[in-house]
Amino acid sequence: MFKVVAVVVLLSALVYCFTVEEIEIFELQRELAKKYGDDIDFYRFLKLPKLRHSTSKDIVRNLRKLSKKYHPDKNRKYKKLYERLNKATEILSNDSRRKTYDYYLKNGFPDYNFSRGGFIFDRVQPKTWVLVLFLYVVASAIHYVLLKIQHASNRRRIQDFIRQCKEQDDTNGLGEKRLAFKQHEADEVKEIVVRLGDVYVVEPEGEMCLISADDAAAPTVLDCLFFRLPIFMWNKSLGKLFSRAPSQLSSQQRPEPSEKGPKRMARNGETKLKDGQKKMTLPNGKVIYSRKKD
Ligand SMILES: *[C@@H]1O[C@H](CO)[C@@H](O)[C@H](O)[C@H]1NC(C)=O
Ligand SMILES: *[C@@H]1O[C@H](CO)[C@@H](O)[C@H](O)[C@H]1NC(C)=O
Repeated sequence: MFKVVAVVVLLSALVYCFTVEEIEIFELQRELAKKYGDDIDFYRFLKLPKLRHSTSKDIVRNLRKLSKKYHPDKNRKYKKLYERLNKATEILSNDSRRKTYDYYLKNGFPDYNFSRGGFIFDRVQPKTWVLVLFLYVVASAIHYVLLKIQHASNRRRIQDFIRQCKEQDDTNGLGEKRLAFKQHEADEVKEIVVRLGDVYVVEPEGEMCLISADDAAAPTVLDCLFFRLPIFMWNKSLGKLFSRAPSQLSSQQRPEPSEKGPKRMARNGETKLKDGQKKMTLPNGKVIYSRKKD
């Protein structure tokens, strides 16, 4: 699960690069802020009468007016200013570029830091959150599919094992056949019983547990990353405080240790087993879910 999270974080860092157009906007904004102060924006710089409510036609018309006043032909010192007026007009008169500009104007421009490779954000942008959320959902979907595949393969393994046991049953499902199961020389022998066509494993205490592929609980949506990660985070952080809170508040009402222990185990341990069910790992690494026969 942590691998998946790491991939999400890495991907979001890789995917999030500025476009050439964004850089152009940031550079002009930075130049203007240096010259006119941090409050400047393109609308004020262009002295648009209606500021942000100007239409792109207004903006183009406005440039014509400004050009008459600030053309470099009139005065050489207007050269830089004229260039910037044109650039700002070019950006604001194009609807898609204006949208980009307005987004950063609202959410903040990145800082420029040469030693860190140019424009960088010190705060996480809303855009980045959306991207992270998207990747999180994608990773969760992949995780869910993997859980499904794993569950199917678990079932198949159990079914294979049951089939292999039945193949050795020479009573044709009418009697009882005892088998010794052992994968490697050094392993402890497990006793398997095929009785009336059903396969049981004999526990060390002598109990017989039915082996059934149906007992491996299918993963639900709640098992996937999308829900597991928040639950995990909660249990690791604030959840800990809350579960400890009662004993800290009043020492005389402390819950019995024996009451607390098993509860914890049940929550953190194998939660996917159904009631009355046992998980057993066979010597060959096969995992078998068995149920006590009533
Ligand atoms: C707006 O800018 C984009 C990106 O530079 C460009 O592809 C598009 O053609 C421009 N739209 C107009 C109407 O000029
Ligand atoms: C740029 O980044 C470096 C390294 O993180 C930092 O030491 C420096 O203060 C930053 N400069 C500015 C202007 O923020």
